[in-house]
Amino acid sequence: MASEKTSWQMVDPEAKLFTCQYRVANFISRSNAFPTASGQWVIVSPSAEKLELPGTVIKDVQESETAPCLVLPNAFHFLGYAAWKKKFPRAQGYAPEGALARLARKGCDDLKPLAELKGLLPQGVSVVELPGLRYGETWFRFSHAGERTWVTGDVFFNLKRFSRQPFARLTQKLLGSAPGLKLPATIKYVLIKDRKVFLSCLEKLLREDKPTRLLPLHGEILSDPDLPQKLTVLLRERLGAKF
Ligand SMILES: [Fe+2]
Repeated sequence: MASEKTSWQMVDPEAKLFTCQYRVANFISRSNAFPTASGQWVIVSPSAEKLELPGTVIKDVQESETAPCLVLPNAFHFLGYAAWKKKFPRAQGYAPEGALARLARKGCDDLKPLAELKGLLPQGVSVVELPGLRYGETWFRFSHAGERTWVTGDVFFNLKRFSRQPFARLTQKLLGSAPGLKLPATIKYVLIKDRKVFLSCLEKLLREDKPTRLLPLHGEILSDPDLPQKLTVLLRERLGAKF
């Protein structure tokens, strides 16, 4: 039976933002879902373990007959794509520019650039393609009822504890990706192409949004009024941010 976290859970009723967790090998990952302005579901980081839309939970959004928009947030979160396309053949995939070449080599060769999703988003939701990274990174920003939520990619982790599986635990220790709010070493040493451009974008987003809630692709949801300060400290410590 599906546990609470592996079923779609409502995060924000006004935005109709849903989330669920899944496991790839020994790593916990997250899918997020919300409707477009016309009621199509957007599934961010689709999982092969969770081939259902959350539409049966709420009635004012189209259900499974409407093809979802599948967002591969970077070049690494593509493992559920083929299974979703099989179940929803009319689904359209989207990915950031920086991820398209690698994703095509992995068999995801029918994706549209993320920019084409922008016009479909509802009021209060925007998408950001983070600059300065080698393989793309997609974030969604939600602003509803006083909450400013960031649905992020692989930049921030918030795993409650180290994995019990030895290989996963060792990887987490080496990368500094657990426990708690972290920015893994892979960002600094592998994914960042232009640190100045990347940090300048982060500074602007933090200043504009002052986010109150974080949904990272790996780890727990973090609701915290001090979130901007905590993310700033992390960016200073891990990437030498000057803001
Ligand atoms: Fe990831």
